[in-house]
Amino acid sequence: MKYRQLINTDLTISELGLGCASYWGKKGFSEKQALKVFSTAVDNGINYFDTGHSYSAGYAEQRLGKALKSHQSNNDLVISSKAGTRMARWGRPYNDFSPTWIRESCEQSLRHLNLQQLPIFFLHGPNPEDFTDELFMELECMQRAGKIGLIGVNAFADHILELCLVQPMVQAVMLDFNVYKPQRVELIKQFKTAGKDVFVAGALAGAIYDDKFWHFQGRKSIWYWLRAWKNNPQLKIMKREMQFINKIPGLSPPQVALAYVLSHPDLSAALIGSTEPSHLRELMTVVDTEIGEELIVKIESQAQKIMSS
Ligand SMILES: NC(=O)c1ccc[n+]([C@@H]2O[C@H](COP(=O)([O-])OP(=O)(O)OC[C@H]3O[C@@H](n4cnc5c(N)ncnc54)[C@H](OP(=O)(O)O)[C@@H]3O)[C@@H](O)[C@H]2O)c1
Repeated sequence: MKYRQLINTDLTISELGLGCASYWGKKGFSEKQALKVFSTAVDNGINYFDTGHSYSAGYAEQRLGKALKSHQSNNDLVISSKAGTRMARWGRPYNDFSPTWIRESCEQSLRHLNLQQLPIFFLHGPNPEDFTDELFMELECMQRAGKIGLIGVNAFADHILELCLVQPMVQAVMLDFNVYKPQRVELIKQFKTAGKDVFVAGALAGAIYDDKFWHFQGRKSIWYWLRAWKNNPQLKIMKREMQFINKIPGLSPPQVALAYVLSHPDLSAALIGSTEPSHLRELMTVVDTEIGEELIVKIESQAQKIMSS
């Protein structure tokens, strides 16, 4: 494993982080298997784990809490969580960035995770109107009280990310960067220059380019497929134009996709999600893989083709 030094704290984290969300965090997914994925990550040097208060209807964070309990010393692990999404009755999510809820959500996260401090704390998908002085005052207060470390924002929309770039209270962002989003490279550089840490969400782009992703692998496939259809209006074109990464000798498609993301030195960590220890082990080897300029150019030109179609 390789590690990167965060800009705004003295923490050093593995450049590959495990996302404790999505199918991993679902009640219907075996707890035993979820803990196996977690321990495979720890055993292979991953020390950074991301979750969210509302992930998997609130269950993912609690499951990560159980996993941390099973780990002998969780002091050496760096955890991030998120606040700002609440669950209404019947599990319908809605946004609440009021200072009161953000503080309460953080307290609940600390209890779920059995931690004294959340080293990295993200606002989960805020809109411009949520960036109030009151909210930032509250975050500063929480930071001074030692409840949170870095103050971050998880957002994928350009206008929110641009706000984060100029808002001095935002020390870190979690954004979408993957084989389909090469245009993020310039923004990532700007964050680095501005002294802000960049975390990459969904670094594998959900593995939708992988032929094997479309083979039925049990109940989880249905969930992954529905998510892929919902999140990618251009799914058919995206699959077709990235098809070539199934044919790179010696590397699986998710390995190519991850190597592309990690080839960018300005980000702090790339987060991946998995329900399979063997998948995770396969991805670990990528930290020592360079895919070369020619492949990077090909990926970026195919992504450009998709964007302009
Ligand atoms: N995606 C978002 O919108 C989003 C938003 C905010 C934050 N995040 C953060 O980013 C993390 C990762 O995102 P994500 O889980 O949405 O998506 P992802 O990591 O881009 O993709 C996960 C998919 O890749 C597959 N996969 C992983 N390793 C594989 C391998 N070696 N071979 C074949 N398939 C492989 C997984 O299947 P298996 O389960 O079968 O391995 C799953 O279908 C989240 O957990 C969260 O912490 C994501």
